Amino acid sequence: MQDIVSLAKRRGYIFPSSEIYGGVNAVFDYGPLGVEFKNNVKRAWWEAMTRQRDDVVGLDASIIMARRVWQVSGHEEVFTDPLVDCTNCKARFRADHVIEEQGNLDVCPNCGEKGTLTEPRRFNLMFKTFMGPVEEDAGLVYLRPETAQGIYVNFLNVQSSMRKRLPFGIAQIGKAFRNEISPGNFTYRMREFEQMEMQYFIPPEEEERWYAYWKEQRRQWYLDLGMTPEHLSWHEHGADELAHYARAAVDVYYEFPFGSKEIEGVHDRTDWDLRRHTEFSGRDMSYFDDLEKRRYLPFVIETSVGADRSALAFLCDAYHEEEVNGEKRVVLRLHKRLAPVKVAVMPLSKKENLVELAHKVHDSLRPLGLTQYDDTGGNIGKRYRRQDEIGTPFCVTVDFDSLEDGQVTIRERDSMAQRRAPIAELRDILAAELV
Ligand code: GAP
Repeated sequence: MQDIVSLAKRRGYIFPSSEIYGGVNAVFDYGPLGVEFKNNVKRAWWEAMTRQRDDVVGLDASIIMARRVWQVSGHEEVFTDPLVDCTNCKARFRADHVIEEQGNLDVCPNCGEKGTLTEPRRFNLMFKTFMGPVEEDAGLVYLRPETAQGIYVNFLNVQSSMRKRLPFGIAQIGKAFRNEISPGNFTYRMREFEQMEMQYFIPPEEEERWYAYWKEQRRQWYLDLGMTPEHLSWHEHGADELAHYARAAVDVYYEFPFGSKEIEGVHDRTDWDLRRHTEFSGRDMSYFDDLEKRRYLPFVIETSVGADRSALAFLCDAYHEEEVNGEKRVVLRLHKRLAPVKVAVMPLSKKENLVELAHKVHDSLRPLGLTQYDDTGGNIGKRYRRQDEIGTPFCVTVDFDSLEDGQVTIRERDSMAQRRAPIAELRDILAAELV
């Protein structure tokens, strides 16, 4: 994991937030390559969940919502984690994490003292802030801890404006905030993060069918993006693990270097949220099926995944170290759709006529996505290695022969195979390979 964290920092993927001031715990910034990579993850999700389907539409709801939303959704009362303090070293832990690791709460995991951990108390994870100029209770609002509520409160707006018939879904990508007690493992558990959530509204009697359907869809998404199947597993929630809104839930687990951990949840939320919002807002959130001539509150199957957390899983899955000609090669075998840089163009030397041609080739490849022009000179092998390390699927080298025969070398990241191709056909060849 340390190698991945270090590569992420060194190569412009992920930086600690406010680093020059010592950082902020569990908050991160995405660098030039990181923002492209995470955008690619989000785009792949958006494509699969909305654009490639007729039955799911998008939404971008606000982060700050009426406080009432969080009272009605149950978050103000029960969106809590059990917190324990050590009376000796003052460290704080999530009681369930301590029990998971050492079986009981007898010893402080930080200082090792016996009997110094307090009784667990409920700690609410929502960040509070104040709307308006006065810090008073009337102005209290929360930074949303999940994006889902933005979807529920807009159910009627979306359904009527888009004239949607059930079953249909609403998807959104956006920031969420949780004041986690024990964040950590790099971007795995953050305090500010992004979620990609979809609520699928269904007739109540179709609950099981759609729960099974979305479980399979979501598994397939990871596989389509090249994730190692053996690194994925399912964890069905027991009754004691279910969130307050869920009747059934299954987590997708990924085998991280620090253990097998949740990256996504598929939840059967029944009509919990719409029922509560109907009850407390006074607006009837039910749906009228004009074919069957019946009115009911839709049930909801939710798929919920962290953009940062799934991006971290893709990063870990892609990271490989191997030996090539007696030297270590670090390569990110990212799926081509996820790789931040699609093609790097390199003139073999800095000779003027080569540079001119290389620039032309580079310009012609811009429509393929983010490309890089690398004329740092020196050893071409070293330049290939640098691109391997950031996951660039293809390098294109312009050499002296190119001036004569109009061909360039395409070098492939995973196999390291090289072949010549005519410049005139280059963009089409690479476009076909990059889909
Ligand atoms: N709307 C349902 C919901 O929020 P959740 O299981 O609490 O369910 C869903 O969160 C997903 O959001 C998780 O599987 C994870 O990918 C991501 N997530 C949750 N807390 C996170 C955190 N502190 N840091 C990064 N990602 C987080």
